[in-house]
Amino acid sequence: MSSEDPLNASPNDAVKRSRYTHRQLHLLRQGSTATPLRAIAHIDLDAFYAQCEMVRLGLPRDTPLAVRQWESLIAVNYAARPFGITRMITAAEARKACPNIVLQHVATFREGEGGRWAYRDDSFKNIKTDKVSLDPYRAESRKILKTIKDELDRWCTNEPDGEAHCFTQGLSAGLEKASIDEVFIDLSPLVYSVLLQRYPELRPSLQDENRDAGLPPPPTTAVPWDPEDFLVELDLHEREEDDPDWDDMVMLVGAEIVRAVRRAVWDELKYTCSAGLARNKMLAKLGSACNKPDKQTVVRNRAVQHFLGGYKFTQIRMLGGKLGDQITSLFGTEQVSDLLSVPLEQLRTKLDDHTASWLYGIIRGDDRSEVNPRTQIKSMLSAKSFRPSINSVGQAEKWLRIFAADIYGRLVEDGVLENRRRPRVITLHHRTAQSRSRQIPIPASNAVDENLLFELAKTLMRQVITDGQAWPCSNLSLSVSSFEEGVSKNKAIEGFLLRGDQAKSLSHGSRPRDPNAAASEQLPPEKKRKTDDNGIKRFFAQPPHTDSPVVDEESAQPQPDPDPISAAQRSPPEVHGSAMPYYTCGRCSRSIAELESEEHDDWHFAKDLELQERQEARDVQHQSRPTNSSSSSRGTGTRGRGGRGGRGKPERGQMRLAFQ
Ligand code: CTP
Ligand code: CA
Ligand code: CA
Repeated sequence: MSSEDPLNASPNDAVKRSRYTHRQLHLLRQGSTATPLRAIAHIDLDAFYAQCEMVRLGLPRDTPLAVRQWESLIAVNYAARPFGITRMITAAEARKACPNIVLQHVATFREGEGGRWAYRDDSFKNIKTDKVSLDPYRAESRKILKTIKDELDRWCTNEPDGEAHCFTQGLSAGLEKASIDEVFIDLSPLVYSVLLQRYPELRPSLQDENRDAGLPPPPTTAVPWDPEDFLVELDLHEREEDDPDWDDMVMLVGAEIVRAVRRAVWDELKYTCSAGLARNKMLAKLGSACNKPDKQTVVRNRAVQHFLGGYKFTQIRMLGGKLGDQITSLFGTEQVSDLLSVPLEQLRTKLDDHTASWLYGIIRGDDRSEVNPRTQIKSMLSAKSFRPSINSVGQAEKWLRIFAADIYGRLVEDGVLENRRRPRVITLHHRTAQSRSRQIPIPASNAVDENLLFELAKTLMRQVITDGQAWPCSNLSLSVSSFEEGVSKNKAIEGFLLRGDQAKSLSHGSRPRDPNAAASEQLPPEKKRKTDDNGIKRFFAQPPHTDSPVVDEESAQPQPDPDPISAAQRSPPEVHGSAMPYYTCGRCSRSIAELESEEHDDWHFAKDLELQERQEARDVQHQSRPTNSSSSSRGTGTRGRGGRGGRGKPERGQMRLAFQ
């Protein structure tokens, strides 16, 4: 009765809640993949190699320029594109289409001229004696990455609540260098912090016992988007006039951070880049390519269907390869919009269950892959093809010297001089009528330098010659691999990892110990760490309400513990202070401060989901071969690309350029 009475009716906005919950908001802080409020950015440099050359040569932005490698073009700047110049045409064709174009050849190493690369005017006609060097671009890439990190750190240190340092650590973990000119950034923890600072009503109050209750709505009816942001149009049934929800506010803050990052890259280094911002990596990556150059595109949750509907699914990360081809032929279409009308059950009749569910989700914009900080290089290779083939040890050794210098330069960048990392194995690959390779360990007692690499390469070459049939040789390459970590490697972050449960889980299966290795070398190799859960890292990288145990851990060298279990047991009481009340978690038996119980509860929630998703992703990878329902043969694994560690072949339509 009273509800019918207009005088007594509650005002609309008093009853309206956000469709998102406290728990979903809180999961942002942990960078959990389980929340729909995630903010993931993908930043890609515009015409990257071309911009590197423009910056190096100090050319104005409107000068048409392409980077050439012999007669091919490997990058074309935006000023040259209106002339119809693409990577598909030759240097001569480009000159014809745009007589004023600057055609800058990549830097090269030159046979017989020692191990230094240089820009040479005559490189383009010296394919026989020269070898391309990408060092200048790698160096620029590193500078750009550092600028991006510094800007993010600046945002983090602006945080008022004393947790800035934790966020910095968290973000470093949330930055994935996806190629020489692109990164993914998980902005979630930072956005969470900014949101809480700007909208104190989001802070969970004591009354909010139900973590699955809706959040209060954002205190605005229109999102103040920056006019420079490109917003993907909303889905059909959505309207711009509708009140925003917190996912829009997350994107707003994310867009502000990304804009600041892009501005820093421009201000400090004079590079333009484009960015995509969305709730996951797949959408962010598609977004960054939408409005190039020098623009950022926001894919709001309410725009995902509209956005994806316009794509071919073969353009989606992981569907660019064989799996995409097979799905195309099974369903007779490449369009996402066509596949959207196929019910899950029908997908299941042609694909195995996991692939079907994964595909069903991905075309609806559901991608829970993590931003994965794979910054560590696993191997380095320097190669040259010979046409005509080479026929003497003298010729081969000239190239081996160049390879050694090339690799050594990259090792120095990787921190070999500071003893951060060093390779343990060197391999020579050699091609005559057939390909062969030989490898030997790099002696641990020697400092890795150019000469050592060259001497080892010569030893390997002699072995190849002794084996016989060394000539004519059409391709030679040298690589180093099996990196080990040195003393100063990432102390801070590894310090976090060696806590409690992590210490326990990480210690399992770590490498045999090298008696010469320093303490932190006892850490398991990268591959092993990947099996650890990023959620765990994040959870502990950002402990709430604690009096900075993080700093203690950071300054402490991770101590090798002969008994990992004892390290695990010892950790929690040391980490926490003494006055705080504790309880033992029934699920993981950890000692948890009562103040952190909700956070801990969330962590289990997120971890369960993540484990489940990881399992599903693994299943998809292993079973991504479409099956006729009767077939039970496992065939020759058609692995879904992308996903974890899926950086294999280039995406479809993007030939990997062969650098020689
Ligand atoms: N590149 C490469 N292998 C490929 C594609 C590209 O080595 N398969 C190089 C290109 O020379 C390029 C850089 O990597 O400059 C980045 O590639 P990409 O982002 O695809 O192209 P851009 O040239 O940066 O152009 P865009 O503005 O479209 O990003
Ligand atoms: Ca690019
Ligand atoms: Ca790129």
